[in-house]
Amino acid sequence: ITVKSTNVISVEHRLAAEARAARNGHYGGVLWFTGLSGAGKSTLAMEVEQRLFAKGYHVYVLDGDNVRRGLNANLGFSPEDRTENIRRVGEAASLFADSGIICITAFISPYRVDRDRARASASGHFHEIYIKADVETCEQRDPKGLYKKARAGEIRQFTGISAPYEPPESADLVVDTSQHDVADSVAQIIRYIEQTFTLK
Ligand code: PPS
Repeated sequence: ITVKSTNVISVEHRLAAEARAARNGHYGGVLWFTGLSGAGKSTLAMEVEQRLFAKGYHVYVLDGDNVRRGLNANLGFSPEDRTENIRRVGEAASLFADSGIICITAFISPYRVDRDRARASASGHFHEIYIKADVETCEQRDPKGLYKKARAGEIRQFTGISAPYEPPESADLVVDTSQHDVADSVAQIIRYIEQTFTLK
């Protein structure tokens, strides 16, 4: 992006991350889900959110389909627009993390370099979770009928069919949804969060 925000000086918060964590019982952070459409990102994110909330965690999901109807309503699915989508979400997620919340993001985020940028903006509080399922599996599930439309040429630049997906090379956690059911996958993620974010 072209940075146009010149003569802007940042203001210091008077609250340390530890102070927020001490009140909440856990640290804030970003759990960045990445994976193909239909891999299970939204299902797992919403299930994990509900379960963590019940345990007393401060948690919020940013989901592609929702954010694209609001904040990012002016963006489509070209490589440039996807990059801008992920840039904004990375910045927003990092604000949630700073505020002490566990922010789960559920975006395809197909480009490694964009995910790495999101990691950098949430410095030290970013966990990449690969929600793994191959195209064949996702296409079989096709919960929204989008693969069918993509095959018919009704959706252009569809991830996995006519647009690329770059899988993570060193995800913090890999959840293979072609091997594990929802309950198992959720349990795996909750375990990871409890180990990573809970105040010791
Ligand atoms: S990205 O690549 O991270 O910017 O995409 P994201 O913001 O996660 O949005 C993906 C959802 O948008 C719908 N959709 C498409 N996906 C991929 N490619 C194309 N061309 C496309 N057009 C619309 C689709 O419902 C995706 O939702 P999920 O939840 O991933 O199935």
